[in-house]
Amino acid sequence: MEVIIVSSAEEGARRVADEFERVIREGSGRATLGLATGSSPVHAYTELIRRHGDEGLSFAGTRAFLLDEYVGLDADAPQSYHRFIREHLTDHIDIDDALVLSPRGEAEDPVAEARRYDASIRESGGIDLQILGIGTDGHIGFNEPTSSLASRTRVKTLTRQTVEDNARFFDAPEDVPVHVLTQGIGTIMEARAVVLTASGRQKAAAVAQLVEGPLSARWPATALQAHPHATVVVDEEAAADL
Ligand code: GLP
Repeated sequence: MEVIIVSSAEEGARRVADEFERVIREGSGRATLGLATGSSPVHAYTELIRRHGDEGLSFAGTRAFLLDEYVGLDADAPQSYHRFIREHLTDHIDIDDALVLSPRGEAEDPVAEARRYDASIRESGGIDLQILGIGTDGHIGFNEPTSSLASRTRVKTLTRQTVEDNARFFDAPEDVPVHVLTQGIGTIMEARAVVLTASGRQKAAAVAQLVEGPLSARWPATALQAHPHATVVVDEEAAADL
């Protein structure tokens, strides 16, 4: 695992965007990206939009799979992760909307939807680069503590902590769906490269476990210690407990 400590959000964004650019260029228009929501990746997305506009970085032919989605929200719901990714990235670049895929939160049978989504990632040939944030409890995607490190895409129930952390995106905490569809840790580990980004003091404990803790389902992100190509980009506050 390569750990990069950056001194500004802009530098972090550039480091993460460099990873995306490498994969897009190597893929010659056929790369598959794994996209994540949350505030952590947004700076990198802004940098990718800038490179698209200023430097002609093209996403034509690129496919994207989202990491997770709330059960019960369709792709147009204001808090849906699919909408978030459109607003923060894909509406502003030349990616084909039909190639931006996510678990369908509104599916009648979420369990079957999870299986279908997991299979569709495999059938596409897999993800070249997965971007990740990290929850304060060490979750990646929505794989909460004690998630199986071999888990596949499935329905999960959020912890109270995660509901509280994510309530800022909703009118009221009780509006946060408690069920989600998330790629499993085993699914995430199949991505050929992974870049996790985090900033702020509130992530320091999780980042310390991620980098230095024992590999344990208590801190799901520690699974990345066993990934052959994982990069961690953190600011000084998030790195404070290393
Ligand atoms: C949510 C998402 C995660 C994300 C986490 C941290 O729980 N499912 O993918 O990493 O939030 O979000 P933020 O980057 O906003 O702190």
